[in-house]
Amino acid sequence: MFPTDSDLVYGTSGDGQNFDYLTGTAGILAVAGIGVAVATAYNWISKPNPAKLPFDLDNQTIIEGPDFIHYSHLSKEGGEIKLLRYLYDDTRTLYDVFRRGARVSNNGPCLGWRTDPTKPYQWMSYKESLLRAQNFGSGLVALGLPPGPGTLVGMYSQNCPEWILGEYGLYTYSMAVVPLYDTLGPDSCRFIITQTEISVVICENDEKCKSLLNNPPACLKQLIHIKPISKETADLAKRLNINTISFELVEKFGTERKYNPVPPRPEDMCTICYTSGTTGNPKGVVLTHENVVANASGVLLQLGDEKPNNTDVMISFLPLAHMLERISHVGVYMGGGAIGFYSGNIANFMDDMKALKPTITPAVPRLFNRIFDKVQSGLSSSALKRFLFNAALSSKENERRRGIIRNNTIWDRLVLSKVQDSMGGRIRLIIVGSAPLAGTVLNFMRCALGCVIVESYGLTECAAPTTLTVHGDYTTEHVGTPLACCAIKLVDVPDMNYYAANGRGEICIKGTNVFKGYFKDPEKTREALDDDGWFHTGDIGTFLDNGTLKIIDRKKNIFKLSQGEYIAPEKIESIYVKSQYVAQVFVYGESLKSCTIGVIVPDVENVKRYAEERGIQGTHAVLCNMPEIKQLILNDITELGKKAGLKSFEQVKDIYLHPEAFSVQNGLLTPTLKSKRPELRNFFKPQLEYVYRKLN
Ligand SMILES: *[C@@H]1O[C@H](CO)[C@@H](O)[C@H](O)[C@H]1NC(C)=O
Ligand SMILES: *[C@@H]1O[C@H](CO)[C@@H](O)[C@H](O)[C@H]1NC(C)=O
Ligand SMILES: *[C@@H]1O[C@H](CO)[C@@H](O)[C@H](O)[C@H]1NC(C)=O
Ligand SMILES: *[C@@H]1O[C@H](CO)[C@@H](O)[C@H](O)[C@H]1NC(C)=O
Ligand SMILES: *[C@@H]1O[C@H](CO)[C@@H](O)[C@H](O)[C@H]1NC(C)=O
Repeated sequence: MFPTDSDLVYGTSGDGQNFDYLTGTAGILAVAGIGVAVATAYNWISKPNPAKLPFDLDNQTIIEGPDFIHYSHLSKEGGEIKLLRYLYDDTRTLYDVFRRGARVSNNGPCLGWRTDPTKPYQWMSYKESLLRAQNFGSGLVALGLPPGPGTLVGMYSQNCPEWILGEYGLYTYSMAVVPLYDTLGPDSCRFIITQTEISVVICENDEKCKSLLNNPPACLKQLIHIKPISKETADLAKRLNINTISFELVEKFGTERKYNPVPPRPEDMCTICYTSGTTGNPKGVVLTHENVVANASGVLLQLGDEKPNNTDVMISFLPLAHMLERISHVGVYMGGGAIGFYSGNIANFMDDMKALKPTITPAVPRLFNRIFDKVQSGLSSSALKRFLFNAALSSKENERRRGIIRNNTIWDRLVLSKVQDSMGGRIRLIIVGSAPLAGTVLNFMRCALGCVIVESYGLTECAAPTTLTVHGDYTTEHVGTPLACCAIKLVDVPDMNYYAANGRGEICIKGTNVFKGYFKDPEKTREALDDDGWFHTGDIGTFLDNGTLKIIDRKKNIFKLSQGEYIAPEKIESIYVKSQYVAQVFVYGESLKSCTIGVIVPDVENVKRYAEERGIQGTHAVLCNMPEIKQLILNDITELGKKAGLKSFEQVKDIYLHPEAFSVQNGLLTPTLKSKRPELRNFFKPQLEYVYRKLN
């Protein structure tokens, strides 16, 4: 298995580098000398401007009707609400998007990569990318695939230029792409190929071809490999009656045959994006060109002047099988920006950032949490560093409160530049999504990086973002307003005592970005999409007074303890995970017990540091077995829980420390990195029973 975002997001896999985020001692002493006094004067001279706002921050949504449906101010057109479908008349499908990029960038650089982490990035222009995509698509037609939205092709690769060339090659002939997530595991891949009856899969390398050839579905006829495969694999395929051909050769066939493009219509399907539920088989979310274009357009509209343009470079490292990453690509192509792919190993990620110097990146909270933790632990060694760093942050925090976010104060030059340089030194826009982000971490990142960071909330069923915080709103712990492409309402969940009339309820979404249903799964579609076209997300939310949405709970995953109290374990987990010693946490309880318990995956570095400082020897696994370490963590999370207002019956009474991360590979996380609760419960059954037994 090659590294994926799960390593970055949850992993403990070595990042090999220990950044010192702070300037050296000499620099620090220099800062201390001129520090505070100069900073004030300098900041005054450089006259910062607060961000330009698209609407009043105290009144961020339009509310209509008896159901209190919330809309974006940006969806109002000539006094009427009209959900956004597209931003530009001539750009209504993904096929159009790529062409627009070529035009507005004036054939600028489009896709960048490097074969090894010591080499500089190489670039392919928009025209070349368009041509290669078309040739590849033409080659598929030559191989016998009929153009049209009914033709599905699998994509089983980590992010690389061929992913995009293949994807846009398919769109050029109205075909649709079905990403096979490398971490879904072989069973899920087989399930998806069988359900979609895919005959052709574009496959990254020998290893992935081999895994598909192990007990292949009967419909699979052809593997197109991006990298060379071994003779052994080719022979195995031949014996199984499956054709193998290189990506390059398909392009060559296409060049020779030159089939005319068959552009898609907005209502045509462009992808089936599988999301694994917490139980059972993955569900295929059917999305059209319009869904994806509407979503990306909604994001761009809300970003206003901050939207990507042809001077931007984005780094691509979150899996393209996630809609968050796909939408980010679409947004960048629409503006004619360039995309550079990370070199494929997350251990080299920071090097890639330095070589690429991206201006935009999508991000997941875990990346921020790691940077935050690293900086904090870097500070623990020196009181002087801590003093300066805190002075720098508090100066920038003061500005943030006044609506000013920038990276050119003297504090940035002297103290914070290392944090900024670790991201390449040019970042101006970050879109965070996929999981809740702690307010303290978000504030810290806004101050330390001095760039625009917006947070989104969304689901694959809505082609990814549904709400987005607006640039200029620097408050935290909410997910912003609905995008101009959709409307949001709350509906009652009586079981959990949430009533829309009291401003709380299940978040329901309707709009041009909302999917058409799950592929071949009418039952699950009926559960999720009601007769009026509202998608029921299962998340519980509340609209704050100023119209921003806050996620407060999850509809499922609650249980009752024996004393009759309801427990929402995810709420507790979101508090415990803020402990520096905790990497991941699973809170568990049974209705026959009177208390909750937990499984904790300790943070390798911070636990190691704690142990070293006290002369405690041992590997991570050994440390996890030590009562002293367990007590340390239990005390820390209990303290955090107390501060966050957890009731005593919500706090775990005991924990089990597990040395290995929950991951997609070991089946404990969904591909969108949410905990698979039933699987976790099964996996840790013996430990959970043991912990409960000991408590009695
Ligand atoms: C919010 O804005 C809407 C439309 O712009 C307006 O009709 C409404 O009165 C405003 N509400 C408040 C409380 O200012
Ligand atoms: C691109 O966007 C940046 C940031 O908003 C802006 O400073 C720059 O002028 C824009 N460039 C063009 C060519 O529009
Ligand atoms: C500072 O912000 C500007 C504008 O957002 C950006 O162009 C520049 O690259 C940033 N510098 C660093 C060091 O992040
Ligand atoms: C649009 O994309 C964002 C970010 O990728 C995602 O969070 C959101 O759910 C999407 N919304 C829809 C309706 O597709
Ligand atoms: C919106 O309202 C919430 C809750 O009252 C508040 O915490 C937040 O600061 C407000 N946002 C802005 C931009 O004023």
